Amino acid sequence: MGNAGRLIIVLALCITLVRCDEDGGNQRKMPVAVPDMFKGVNLAKDVLVAGEKIINVMSFGAKPDGKSDSTQGFMQAWQATCKSTTPARMYVPAGSFLVDSMFFQGPCTTPGDITVQVEGTVLASTDPSVYENGEWLMFENLNGFKLIGSGTFDGQGKSFWEFNVNCDKNQGSTCVRLPSSIFFNNVTNGLIQNINSLNPKGFHIFLTNSANIRVRKVKLTAPADSPNTDGIHISHSINIIASKNTIATGDDCVSIIQGVKNVAINRLTCGPGHGISIGSLGKYEDELEVSNIMVQDSTLVGTTNGLRLKAWPDKYPGAASSIFFTGITMNNVKNPIIIDEQYECDPDNCKAKPSLVKLSNIRFTNIRGTSLSPIGVDLRCSQKFPCQDVVLQNVDLRMGGKPVASRCVSVKPSYLGINTPLACS
Ligand SMILES: *[C@@H]1O[C@H](CO)[C@@H](O)[C@H](O)[C@H]1NC(C)=O
Repeated sequence: MGNAGRLIIVLALCITLVRCDEDGGNQRKMPVAVPDMFKGVNLAKDVLVAGEKIINVMSFGAKPDGKSDSTQGFMQAWQATCKSTTPARMYVPAGSFLVDSMFFQGPCTTPGDITVQVEGTVLASTDPSVYENGEWLMFENLNGFKLIGSGTFDGQGKSFWEFNVNCDKNQGSTCVRLPSSIFFNNVTNGLIQNINSLNPKGFHIFLTNSANIRVRKVKLTAPADSPNTDGIHISHSINIIASKNTIATGDDCVSIIQGVKNVAINRLTCGPGHGISIGSLGKYEDELEVSNIMVQDSTLVGTTNGLRLKAWPDKYPGAASSIFFTGITMNNVKNPIIIDEQYECDPDNCKAKPSLVKLSNIRFTNIRGTSLSPIGVDLRCSQKFPCQDVVLQNVDLRMGGKPVASRCVSVKPSYLGINTPLACS
């Protein structure tokens, strides 16, 4: 059987065995904000703690030839690390290691936090039948976990992309996503630092049910036309800090959906890609709110959207509030500022009922640069729940040197500072 045939079977299995959709429709509890273990710690400096054992995957038979299956070697090295009684880290040296889908599951008995250090390349199997559990590398039930090193996670996604189903646009709740490369589920006090991700099948990094996660200085790369290869996708999580990351991919650089609170994104370089997105919201019943998201000092280059909030019309309630974008440079961005509560509905001819998603306290401050489309500030809110407290402050967006045009539906933005244009005035 060809890969295509097998993929279809795997997808069918996935539908029957597990809930594979992006987020599920069921109401879930928010993860609990716990004390921040890494607060005030110089994370840039990686030091071995006293007595820390280095557990090399090659000691368990992993082969750096890019061809042999190193899954068992990785799993055994993980078990040895996670069940250690003294401090330990799992180490992936230089070389190229081919592995299947894997669970790196806690809780661990190891004292202190656990480190996985990757210096070589971890290559994802291209056999679709090994992804029945949905994602590629699944880190779960861990408290105090670091994924670091200068290595690369190569998702080898290319041969899968033609089978992509866009679950964001797809209405069905059984929509099956392609596997994310790095998946954090129920991780508390986590760090992802310096690593590279290349050509994931689905998202590069997917964080869910997690608290106190830092993503620093990672480089995520995939072609501009690769489908649904979101850089960092977040749901049901609290206290996320993403700083100094470089993301060039085929979908959103960062996407934040339901149940996410307290996110700070600093010094992101994004492009190509679809920009920074909150939503889509209102897709599922009983969605939890999104609140307190701050994006600052970031640059978007050649992206299709810049700063975007998107919500479905004619579906479920939802809400996003206290969303702050500050100090953003746009370089040839197609839709620099966009609130779209008519998601997937033609703005000039949308007959769907208004969205039930409430958006409030949204601020765009010090946003400058160039737009590739004439409507550079596009704010289309719900006729049923107009956007509340939208503020534009020092927004300067131009196309061919001239201020861009704007459009406003069900929103009365207020202005501070100097705005070019004075949108929808
Ligand atoms: C989440 O992970 C912790 C270990 O950090 C574990 O004790 C707990 O049971 C996990 N929760 C769920 C719902 O699996």
